[in-house]
Amino acid sequence: MNQLGLTLTQVTEAAALAAYQWLGRGCKNAADQAAVSAMRKQLNASEIEARIAIGEGEIDDAPMLYIGEELGRGGAKIDIAVDPIEGTRMTAMGQANALAVLAATERGALLQAPDMYMEKLVTRPQASSATINLSQPLEENLINIARALNKPLSQLAVATLAKPRHEKLIAQLHSLGVKVYAFPDGDVAASLLVCLPDNDIDVMVCTGGAPEGVISAAVVKALGGVMQARLLTRDHVKGATPENIRLANKEHQRCLQMGTTPNRILTLDDMVKTDNIIFCATGITKGDVVNGVQKYAQHLTTETLLVQGETKTIRMISSTHQADTANELITLKV
Ligand code: FBP
Repeated sequence: MNQLGLTLTQVTEAAALAAYQWLGRGCKNAADQAAVSAMRKQLNASEIEARIAIGEGEIDDAPMLYIGEELGRGGAKIDIAVDPIEGTRMTAMGQANALAVLAATERGALLQAPDMYMEKLVTRPQASSATINLSQPLEENLINIARALNKPLSQLAVATLAKPRHEKLIAQLHSLGVKVYAFPDGDVAASLLVCLPDNDIDVMVCTGGAPEGVISAAVVKALGGVMQARLLTRDHVKGATPENIRLANKEHQRCLQMGTTPNRILTLDDMVKTDNIIFCATGITKGDVVNGVQKYAQHLTTETLLVQGETKTIRMISSTHQADTANELITLKV
C-alpha cells in the first residue's frame, strides 16, 4: 500500500487540475464531471486494481464514479473512496477550501454505504475513543472532550457546516460558550483540521454526506483521531415529506443490500477496518489545509496532502504540471 502514495497523489492532482478549469464559472455539475473524468482516466492509467467502494453524487444527481467500478491497468488490489470535488459549490463560486480527495485501503476494509446523510463527531488524537458517544447529548460529549483535552469548555473550538439544518446546533454551541467555526461546505477539510497537528479546531460535528464521512473516517484513523458516525435517512435530515419518506425507504433498502443500517452508531473501526490507509487531498481553491491550483504562463502548480496510516506520515507534495496537461482538460466547453 505504502508505495502507492505517489500514484494516488497523481489521481487527486488530475481531478483538481480538471476542476480548476471550472473554478468560478457557476457550473457545479460541469466541474464535477470534469473532475470525475480526470480521476477515472488517471486511475485507469495507473498500475493498480482499484475498486470504487465509496462513490459520490447520488444525493444531488451529480456525475460520479460508481460503487463497484473497477479501474486500473493491474497491480495491487485496493478499495478506494473518492470525492473528485469535495466542495463543488465552492469550486463553482470560487470559494476557499475545495479539495479533490480519495482514501485507499486493502480490499474489503471500507464501510459500504450509499450516498445518504451521516451524522459525524470527530475529535483530536489526544482524546481517546471512549471520550465520545453519539448516543449521549452533544453537551455531554463536549464536556468530556474538553476534559480530555485539558481545557475549559470556553476554549473549545468546534467546526461545523453553516447549513440551515444546523441553525439550532450552532445556537446550542454558542449557548455552551464554545468557539464555532461554521464552514459553508466541506466537512472533510473540517475533520482534517481537527486531526492535523498545530491547528485550532478541537471538534467537528455536523450532518453531511456519508461518502465524505467514510473518507474522513479513513484520514481520521490514519492520523490517530477519534470519530463516531451514524447514517441518517433523508426524512430524518430534511423533514418527513412524502418524497423524503420515499427516498428514505430506498436508502433503507440500499443500506440493507450493503450490509449496514441507518441510525446505528458506527465506530472508526466499523468504518475503516485497517490502519493500512492512504489519503490524498489536492487543493482546487486555496484553503486551510492545502493551497489551490495556481496558474502561471507555462505551467500550473498543485499542492497535495498525502497521509499514510501505517506509518502515520504526513507529506505535503508540491507539483508543477506542464500547461499542456491542463489544455487537454480544457476541451470541455463552458
Ligand atoms: P460536495 O461538494 O461533494 O457535494 O460536498 C460538499 C458538502 O458540504 C460536504 O462536505 C458535506 O458532507 C455535504 O456537502 C453536505 O450535503 P448538503 O450539501 O446536502 O448539505
